[in-house]
Amino acid sequence: MTAALQNDLYLRALNREETERTPVWVMRQAGRYLPEYLRVRQQAGDFMSLCSNPELACEVTLQPIDRFNLDAAILFSDILTIPDAMGLGLHFEAGEGPKFSSPVRSRADVENLPVPDPSDKLRYVMDAVSTIRRELDGRVPLIGFSGSPWTLATYMVEGGGTKDFSKIKGMLFSDPALLHEMLDKTARSVISYLNAQVEAGAQSLMIFDTWGGVLSPANYREFSLRYMQQIVDGLTREAEGRKVPVVLFTKNGGQWLDIMADTGCDGLGVDWTIDLADARRKTGDRVALQGNLDPSALYGSPESIRSNVKRVLDSYGAGPGHVFNLGHGIHQHVNPDHLGVMVEAVRELSQR
Ligand code: CP3
Repeated sequence: MTAALQNDLYLRALNREETERTPVWVMRQAGRYLPEYLRVRQQAGDFMSLCSNPELACEVTLQPIDRFNLDAAILFSDILTIPDAMGLGLHFEAGEGPKFSSPVRSRADVENLPVPDPSDKLRYVMDAVSTIRRELDGRVPLIGFSGSPWTLATYMVEGGGTKDFSKIKGMLFSDPALLHEMLDKTARSVISYLNAQVEAGAQSLMIFDTWGGVLSPANYREFSLRYMQQIVDGLTREAEGRKVPVVLFTKNGGQWLDIMADTGCDGLGVDWTIDLADARRKTGDRVALQGNLDPSALYGSPESIRSNVKRVLDSYGAGPGHVFNLGHGIHQHVNPDHLGVMVEAVRELSQR
């Protein structure tokens, strides 16, 4: 038996139902800005060992919930688990971010990519989801997630982070059919991965399209949005008698919020480069909006954090459908107490 949900503000806001206040969580809420996270990561040895240990992944997932009383938990994992399970050899080099030892460069590489069975090489993720659900005991909903096919493909082809996207864009312009084949395989992998997360207990899903914003409008539609559409169409949208809301987030995608809403998703993540009032006008209240305080605002004083929180809430304005969040992940050098100030300000200033 799973415990009844005690705080469902997050799910109700994504359904655009009235809530007594605006729910709040933050991207990368379990991470290096928290001293208790660094202690558990050290215990695990490194980041991937932490992700692949369900008990420790559960422990760090709950750390920010315990400390800040947030309204949603997000699975502690990474978007690069899928390419890792495809056999690309993920590793993290100190201070350099993720790297793949076998990046995807040729037609043979694409053809050899498997669609991973989530109950096999990705079993550890599903075990983390079910462990977290059990330990949350109905306190708040659990968000499952994956990367978008375009964003995963950028890491898979570049072999790590990049500033100019030369290899992936090289493939896009020189052999678009090959890139489409890779994106389709990746989309099918994401669908089975996310549906397995729902089966294991995820109550909402988010798709991170961190790099969609580097594309031209025509290429965004063809190489990023089209595959997020395929995913939205393939997802389990109801479980345990309740809707499983789906949120799409394209960083730097403010100009495309209207066509993103057309996919039939429930919510859109919004970064800080567009006002929520404009985002709302573009989407015509068809979807919920999640965002969008500039993560750097947490470097400011408590008074300035409060006034910036108020500005975000005022920009969204009246009516349901807002989930407060940062516009991207929290930075590692932020003072955790400042996140506490932000959360308190949202609770107090959004009270209806
Ligand atoms: O939000 C959460 O708390 C859940 C956990 C989560 C992580 N990564 C943990 C993590 C989520 C949702 C992600 C998503 C992710 N991972 C994205 C999309 C979102 C975004 O930030 O745009 C991307 C692009 C990645 C790929 C990735 N993983 C990078 C580029 C890095 C290095 C980042 C850095 O600053 O060094 C990671 C590692 C990573 N993923 C860390 C965490 C907490 C830091 C690892 C550590 O502890 O050293």
